[in-house]
Amino acid sequence: MEAAKKAARVARSLADVAPCPAVNGGVFVFFVAVVTGAFVSACWMSASARVSSIAPVATSPMAQNATPRPEAAAAPRVPPRLSSVAATPTNQTPPATAHSAPPPREQAPGPAPGAEAAPDCPAYFRWIHEDLRPWRAAGITRDAVDGAARRYAPKFRVTVVAGRLYVARYGRCFQTRAEFTQWGILQLLRRYPGRVPDLDLMFDCQDLPVVLRAGDGQSPPLFRYCGSEATLDIAFPDWSFWGWPELNIKPWEALRREIKEGNARVNWTDRAPYAYWKGNPAVGAERRDLLRCNVSAKRDWNARIYAQDWGREVQAGFKESDLSRQCDHRYKIYIEGRGWSVSEKYILACDSVALMVRPRFHDFFSRGLAPLRHYWPVRDRGKCRSIKLAVDWGNAHADRAQEIGGNASRFVQEELTMDRVYDYMFHLLTEYAKLLRYEPAMPRGAGEVTVASMTRGRRGLQRKFMMDTVENGSGGSGGPCTLQQPFRPEELEALRRTREDVVKQVEEWEKR
Ligand SMILES: *[C@@H]1O[C@H](CO)[C@@H](O)[C@H](O)[C@H]1NC(C)=O
Ligand SMILES: *[C@@H]1O[C@H](CO)[C@@H](O)[C@H](O)[C@H]1NC(C)=O
Ligand SMILES: *[C@@H]1O[C@H](CO)[C@@H](O)[C@H](O)[C@H]1NC(C)=O
Ligand SMILES: *[C@@H]1O[C@H](CO)[C@@H](O)[C@H](O)[C@H]1NC(C)=O
Repeated sequence: MEAAKKAARVARSLADVAPCPAVNGGVFVFFVAVVTGAFVSACWMSASARVSSIAPVATSPMAQNATPRPEAAAAPRVPPRLSSVAATPTNQTPPATAHSAPPPREQAPGPAPGAEAAPDCPAYFRWIHEDLRPWRAAGITRDAVDGAARRYAPKFRVTVVAGRLYVARYGRCFQTRAEFTQWGILQLLRRYPGRVPDLDLMFDCQDLPVVLRAGDGQSPPLFRYCGSEATLDIAFPDWSFWGWPELNIKPWEALRREIKEGNARVNWTDRAPYAYWKGNPAVGAERRDLLRCNVSAKRDWNARIYAQDWGREVQAGFKESDLSRQCDHRYKIYIEGRGWSVSEKYILACDSVALMVRPRFHDFFSRGLAPLRHYWPVRDRGKCRSIKLAVDWGNAHADRAQEIGGNASRFVQEELTMDRVYDYMFHLLTEYAKLLRYEPAMPRGAGEVTVASMTRGRRGLQRKFMMDTVENGSGGSGGPCTLQQPFRPEELEALRRTREDVVKQVEEWEKR
């Protein structure tokens, strides 16, 4: 009874509120439902934030007290707060002597910046420069940051001072988005102690980018999970990299490895020769339109489309969400919901060919993907025909198709590891901090966020996922990768043109 009610509630809230991410097909299909009982226990972890005491997780003998179900709709409520060390000299922030701050101090602070040459970051990191370009010349003033709060109602403010994290909350985010985002930033500070500069930024956790382009440096900087050509919102890794407990989606590092194993289990040629999508069609006109492409008695567009029944999934303990089912079709459709979709990385990780319905939004890594190299571009108008052509082509050119699928999965497995995700955050925040024209200070109403404050009172999957992803200081020992120079204008132009040309070329093929 209770469970049914809860399921219904979750289903409703997913449909209404959790737009893009929740919905996607891909997401769901594969994470295994094992995560439930055995892991869920609150007793083993001490409240002390002593870094090293917390770390060893996966292997922790935390089985007693097992609760049988993932906490489906557990309300996020714990206020954020955290700590660690930081202080990297930048233009504005004096080399804050972070030595007063506690955490991973026993750790040498990684290789001295610039000492040995770390490997280059993946090419998509260069978009960091583009995202910050609007403030390059004039810098970012406190007024500009406060202005974001006045104009766009962000949900929280993140301030780092001397390696400690402070968060001021202005509103609620759906489920545990805010908590897991702040958790991620906290782990970054723990991973690179003493290296993340003082900073101060506004964060919004809703799906759609909103910041309008104004005169140079006139738009307020605002971080969120996705951006678009038309807006200036700065793309930051979404919460799901640290897990999505409400949907039983594991932290990315573990899931990435599982999908990799899943890929190896099913021979591409043995997969169903169709394009698969499963998700919530209710969150966007494009998705509703996709339903037309489903196979019927009259037509077969080579698409197999399924609506996700979240209520049932939740109630059934996510039994349908089986990793091995993720990669059992040769093609997987990616389509945005209300904004970008969290499912993108899960779809790409699969070495099936991603058929991407022309996206309007980008997350932090998707601009590193190229049509016909990592995915097959599908038009938004006339998508059924487009899908049919892609599948026919791929089935007739299995080698080429597998190469595209393989390229995407390699991109994910090599350039989108958690190491790289942290490095992206590190470089983005560092470059952002360089633009600040004032010294960040703990804002009014903010509290410190620490491992202890984040985990206090938290149970079930929320707790488990946090413990699974807690950084103990050794993760970043290799130091961040080396950020490449900004694109030259010609380079950027060439990149855009090439992509457009490839997409146009595919559209030409479709006409024949
Ligand atoms: C995949 O299937 C093809 C055709 O059945 C076969 O030749 C090939 O050896 C298989 N590869 C693997 C890894 O099983
Ligand atoms: C698509 O067609 C299949 C096969 O007829 C069916 O099982 C499925 O429910 C359809 N999907 C939707 C969203 O109606
Ligand atoms: C796959 O990636 C490799 C290396 O980037 C590239 O040389 C190759 O052309 C790609 N394949 C396709 C189909 O684009
Ligand atoms: C820190 O975590 C890593 C993996 O994240 C683990 O290999 C290492 O043993 C941990 N170190 C300590 C001191 O717990």
